[in-house]
Amino acid sequence: MLSKKIQDAINEQINRELYSGYLYLAMSAYCEAENFPGIANWMKVQAEEEQEHAERFYDFVNDRGGRVYLKAIDEPPTDFGTPLDIFQASLEHEQFITSSINELYALALAENDYATQIMLQWFISEQIEEEKNASDIVALLEKVGNNVNGLLMVDRQLAQREED
Ligand code: FEO
Repeated sequence: MLSKKIQDAINEQINRELYSGYLYLAMSAYCEAENFPGIANWMKVQAEEEQEHAERFYDFVNDRGGRVYLKAIDEPPTDFGTPLDIFQASLEHEQFITSSINELYALALAENDYATQIMLQWFISEQIEEEKNASDIVALLEKVGNNVNGLLMVDRQLAQREED
């Protein structure tokens, strides 16, 4: 059985994961409009991954006899600037998600909730990958700068991303 504190914190995290999906979908829509179809594809796959993260927490709450409460999802921005700006915003967002997962883990430790600690270990590893994915692309885009051929090359590369 989940404590109320853990249940509330995971419900909050479900909302953050759903917002993450919404944010990446908004980034994807922006990239479609800006004629970067490869980046749009990368962001759409990322949005689907965020939905899966939300569902992982959702299933966990239900499996532990808790109650999921869905809250309103904030409206994401509509304008994201250059490809570099987009991935910098993505990296910052992932750093925020990492800190919220870490806070959840600290709460599970304080509550002696071992099952939640084990479940969160998957997310702690996942966040290493999430931050690395964004920071690798930021580094690439910093090298490319305003070079149009370079930007098109990155766009083609990101078109390759498929759902796991
Ligand atoms: Fe669900 Fe991108 O963290």
